[in-house]
Amino acid sequence: MIYQIYPRSFADSNGDGTGDLNGVRTRLPYLRDLGVDAIWFTPWYASPLADGGYDVADYRAIDPAFGTLADAEALIAEAADLGIRTIVDVVPNHVSSEHEWFKAALAAGPGSPERARFWFREGRGEHGELPPTDWVSSFAGGTWTRVPDGQWYLHLFAAEQPDLNWNHPDVRREHEDVLRFWFDRGVAGIRVDSASMPVKDPAFPEVPETYEAGGHPFIDRDELHGIYRGWRAVADSYEEPRVLVGEIWLDDRQRFARYLRPDEMHSAFNFDFMARPWDAKELRESIQYTLDAHAPVGAPATWVLSNHDVTRPVTRYGRADSSFTFAAKRFGTPTDLASGERRARAAALLTAALPGALYVYQGDELGLPEVEDLPLDALQDPMHFRSGGVDPGRDGCRVPLPWTRSGRTFGFGPDESDAPAWLPQPAAGWGERSVEVQDSDPRSVLALYRAALVLRRSEAALRGEDFAWLDTTEAVLAFTRDDVVCVVNLGTAPVPLPDHREVLLTSTDLHGDHLPADAAAWLRT
Ligand code: GLC
Repeated sequence: MIYQIYPRSFADSNGDGTGDLNGVRTRLPYLRDLGVDAIWFTPWYASPLADGGYDVADYRAIDPAFGTLADAEALIAEAADLGIRTIVDVVPNHVSSEHEWFKAALAAGPGSPERARFWFREGRGEHGELPPTDWVSSFAGGTWTRVPDGQWYLHLFAAEQPDLNWNHPDVRREHEDVLRFWFDRGVAGIRVDSASMPVKDPAFPEVPETYEAGGHPFIDRDELHGIYRGWRAVADSYEEPRVLVGEIWLDDRQRFARYLRPDEMHSAFNFDFMARPWDAKELRESIQYTLDAHAPVGAPATWVLSNHDVTRPVTRYGRADSSFTFAAKRFGTPTDLASGERRARAAALLTAALPGALYVYQGDELGLPEVEDLPLDALQDPMHFRSGGVDPGRDGCRVPLPWTRSGRTFGFGPDESDAPAWLPQPAAGWGERSVEVQDSDPRSVLALYRAALVLRRSEAALRGEDFAWLDTTEAVLAFTRDDVVCVVNLGTAPVPLPDHREVLLTSTDLHGDHLPADAAAWLRT
């Protein structure tokens, strides 16, 4: 079970309104008690925070807002003492425009070796006034920005995130070095950001309407595998081998699995599952598809309900169209939070019962909803601005956590300071969802997560690989893991439970021997 920490929003030890590493250190016992095996930290490196830290200015320094390198080393060691491993984020596709390399590239001018580490090109049109391609950024808008000497540079994300040229030997060497830097400090693995995007077709063609696998100008290019084989060799060179986890959004499962071959990454996030709506047929299909894709390469599947980029499950599952797509994010989508919460609880039991690794994004174990009414002037996400203000962006899932029922920032920061949290917490309902309140409530989302994670460890069946579907009606998902059965009712009426000897855990009270709608149960047969 890997717990994702967005350091800016987890716990603020010094009261400046921004979460920090010392804040995480004070909360390690909470994570141990939750049942966390490893923490994945989204970027904690020196950064202007133009994209929440995914714009790295210096990989070997901690951003001063988060602490120091010594704090990071202490955190890694203290977590390890509690049996918790640390995974850090590495962002190969781009760096910050404040990175030394990019500053040098701007200063050195066209044709210089400094510019060769990035993608600088002349524009099209009579005076080079048009960008080299019409590619569309993942954050909306174009992918090229013009500099004063007339050249354009490529950025698949925001303009503050210039793309690196992976054909350049410096780029390769530097990243392998960065891996060693963190592995040498006891980090157990890395999460590879936007892992299918770093290699570009240097001819810069437009994106064709249809293309052969591997034929997209910047997604899933074959040359990537050589890069990750190099990284795997670095990871394997340690006495205790380190792990590589890829952020790979690809529809083609065969192509996805290629990144998980034995000499490449160990695992990758399962976005197919996350993107599906609350629908038994869809989820069954995705689970089977996932298991089938992983089996031939022998890699463990991963199960992900959310992360720092997507709408919180409580909110998403409370919507008529509960599938996740970036394009579907709009202000004011009607949401039924009560049903969303029931479904999110059931989804937690579903994912925790599946074979493979489970990822939990901070705050999902508290059932936090997306904060949808953030004041417009508080929004920070470039996705919001680059969409022309149409997309609310991702700030709503990044609001600082509530630790206590009351208090200035609900225990996120110390009460004595008066700096506001970097994103405002909702005044209503936030304290009721705090760790303090849920801690002592056996019916809380937190209690459900804790109970599920205890069973995931104690039940041999859940640790093993055995998995088989049970025959059910259409709106029900049911499968066995040896002597444990997981049943999820995605229909509208209660359904009878399958034969069992013992009820291990349920997401809500049973109706006699019936499982209510939008609920899940773990049974022993
Ligand atoms: C990944 C990260 C996201 C970031 C983007 C660019 O998708 O998860 O938060 O904005 O990469 O680095």
